Amino acid sequence: MSENPLQQIEHVTVIGAGAMGSQIAMVCALAGYDTDVVDIAQEAVDRAAEQLHSRMDRDVSKGRRTREDVDAAFERMTFSTDRDECAAQADFVIEAAVEDLTIKRQVFAELDAVCPEHTILATNSSNIVSSRVADATNRPEKVCNVHFFNPALVMKCVEVVPNPATSPETVETAMALARSIGKEPVQLKKEVPGFVANRLLGALRTEALKLYEDGVADYEDIDVAAKTALNHPMGPFELMDMVGIDVVYLIRLAEYEQTGDPASLPAESIREKYEAGEYGRKSGRGWYDYE
Ligand SMILES: NC(=O)c1ccc[n+]([C@@H]2O[C@H](COP(=O)([O-])OP(=O)(O)OC[C@H]3O[C@@H](n4cnc5c(N)ncnc54)[C@H](O)[C@@H]3O)[C@@H](O)[C@H]2O)c1
Repeated sequence: MSENPLQQIEHVTVIGAGAMGSQIAMVCALAGYDTDVVDIAQEAVDRAAEQLHSRMDRDVSKGRRTREDVDAAFERMTFSTDRDECAAQADFVIEAAVEDLTIKRQVFAELDAVCPEHTILATNSSNIVSSRVADATNRPEKVCNVHFFNPALVMKCVEVVPNPATSPETVETAMALARSIGKEPVQLKKEVPGFVANRLLGALRTEALKLYEDGVADYEDIDVAAKTALNHPMGPFELMDMVGIDVVYLIRLAEYEQTGDPASLPAESIREKYEAGEYGRKSGRGWYDYE
């Protein structure tokens, strides 16, 4: 393996300028990489630029970053809808486009055709393991998941997940890249749906919902236990309200479609809240009231 796995990595291209892609790109640019953030929609690119500028202005005014660092990072960034022009210069691509397998496979095939031979193609997908997109390319050994957490500017964890064809050099480079942008990467040894962190979270959430539905304790008390005994910053019910109960419901439904196991189905109380439109903070009411 190379002594410095990052020797060839200067230019990062992020595909998708949504909630994740825009912040992943900012993190890379702040760390010194020439970074493109690319979207099919001009509107998404414009929104990403506007939101990142206001977020960075806020960070500067609060003394979290210097104006020089922020200006230098924006100098290194390109906001674009011309994916192929950007990808042709990329050493490392992080795909953070919409969670749709057909779209991702097409994006990976097209990236494979325009990126230099050495370029690593990573997906930030939460649920689509990279073996499902790697075979759309002629470089499966250079394809893996590099999974960031929301908000990517803040959250330290990045999961690096190889598919069976991913080379050790690709894993090493992805791990090194994650460290070089200030993250604390976690290396998985093989693909598993949900990776590590979301599986831990899922297990906690499932047990919390079971305790509540079995009438063992009220959801407020379960949240108190998680915070005061386990030192979690938020209880599982508060977290569901933040993530969105619609998202929690749809994740379980997608899991059920993959496993066919009734145990994967959303909990009864989640289905009721979903059907009542009680999605959590975004709708003003979920487990708690936000009116
Ligand atoms: N939101 C999260 O909490 C989170 C956390 C970790 C990982 N992820 C993963 O990150 C990815 C993006 O999620 P998000 O929340 O940022 O979604 P989002 O909807 O905010 O953004 C997706 C963007 O992709 C763009 N897009 C669609 N097709 C495209 C294409 N062919 N080429 C380029 N851009 C295209 C859309 O215009 C949109 O701007 C998903 O794979 C998701 O699983 C999301």
